Amino acid sequence: MNHQEMLINRARQAQSMAKAPYSHYQVGAAVLAESGAVYAGCNIESGAYSTTICAERVAIFTAIANGEQGFTALAVVTRDGGTPCGSCRQVIHEQCGDIPIYLSGNGETVETSTLEMLPNPFTFRDD
Ligand code: THU
Repeated sequence: MNHQEMLINRARQAQSMAKAPYSHYQVGAAVLAESGAVYAGCNIESGAYSTTICAERVAIFTAIANGEQGFTALAVVTRDGGTPCGSCRQVIHEQCGDIPIYLSGNGETVETSTLEMLPNPFTFRDD
């Protein structure tokens, strides 16, 4: 199994853990760290709506909370091949840089990248 298939499988497992009682739209994500470890996440919705968190951010933040610093690929699984939201694109850019992103759903996988999804991203410079 190549790393793309492995990441998609992990994201699909996480998708089944999603708590999406409001949208019923389950999302799973898995990020491959430079260490070789994989961290998965699912979306978790809130009755206060805005405190919902997306699968991509759960996966990336969990990896960082476990000491990971660099990432080499990300997979996202939805029922229809949906793309990451704008907030997640910014987080992917800041925490992962320009990495391959596999979007899987509806029996198809599309490969894209951070910069393809978020061209000319905001980067904070303290100078
Ligand atoms: N969602 C994600 O998990 N990732 C995205 O990038 C887009 C949206 C979730 C949030 C919410 O729980 C549901 O999908 C519908 O918006």
